[in-house]
Amino acid sequence: MTKQDAKWCVYLTRKVAAEIVERLQEIAQVEVWEGDGPVPRDVLLKKVEKADALFAMLTDRIDEDLLKRAERLQIVANMAVGYDNIDVAAAKKRGIVVTNTPDVLTEATADLAFALLLAAGRRLVEANRFLHAGEWKTWSPYLMAGQSVHGAKLGIIGMGRIGEAVAKRAKGFDMSLLYHNRRRNMAAERVTGARYCGLDELLQESDYVVLLTPLTPQTRELMGAREFSLMKPSSVFINVSRGGTVNEEALYQALVTKQIWAAGLDVFQQEPVPVDHPLLSLPNVVALPHIGSATYQARTQMARLAADNIVAVLTGREPISPV
Ligand code: GLV
Ligand code: GLV
Repeated sequence: MTKQDAKWCVYLTRKVAAEIVERLQEIAQVEVWEGDGPVPRDVLLKKVEKADALFAMLTDRIDEDLLKRAERLQIVANMAVGYDNIDVAAAKKRGIVVTNTPDVLTEATADLAFALLLAAGRRLVEANRFLHAGEWKTWSPYLMAGQSVHGAKLGIIGMGRIGEAVAKRAKGFDMSLLYHNRRRNMAAERVTGARYCGLDELLQESDYVVLLTPLTPQTRELMGAREFSLMKPSSVFINVSRGGTVNEEALYQALVTKQIWAAGLDVFQQEPVPVDHPLLSLPNVVALPHIGSATYQARTQMARLAADNIVAVLTGREPISPV
């Protein structure tokens, strides 16, 4: 089939590698939002009217209002593992398949989580700024001293695939492992030796707390003033999930009043986080622009998987990774 007589229309809300577009062009007419940022809402609302498949990003809000215009839409393929940007119930009601990109980003995201843990615990960013500012006058015993990583206790909130991958890395640092999850994950316990416990116990015991849970109504602002107050003054909090899981005002207070020692954040309530956000004014916050899965390898595999899901659904096969 040539492009001209392809019967399906696929809309991509961002530019991705040519290879991905070509794969989709084998079966469909493909249109891509060529702008630098996210596709504007009004454009997306129009484009979805004619689309059979939507290749979407976590920056696109796929809600009832949008889906009700999507008369031909068969699939929303989100190029992310998280899908809190999509009203999945509203899609299902219309028979629209929603897919995400698990597995292919697990190791890259776990690497980033561990990098944040090391950076926040050992003050890498603060120390780097200190050096560049010309403040390094002499070696001294406690210059930029941080918290031990080796042998420390790590608490993982959300023991899914990424949690398990973080736990494996922690074993190399001889860390002891606690985890909290909606339900026990026996397979992860066997592989990592992590011990299941309640959230409060995890917060009280851990030297490092890594938050990896998806954002759902149940996990919205899971971490608030009460939760931070349970943590140790020497503890480090890492968030690689979604900004909505944390009450940022409570986190700020916990850091300023030294209830906790440092934080490493890849995600924020509002993204991009405003540069005058109070959390960014703190030297003990390592802040990153939502780059958990951002390696060339992982992002390419995510895009391929999203495209493969679209090809599968449009050609009448089962989706590879439905949510
Ligand atoms: C990124 O945050 C993702 O959900 O893939
Ligand atoms: C530090 O560089 C040391 O030699 O202990």
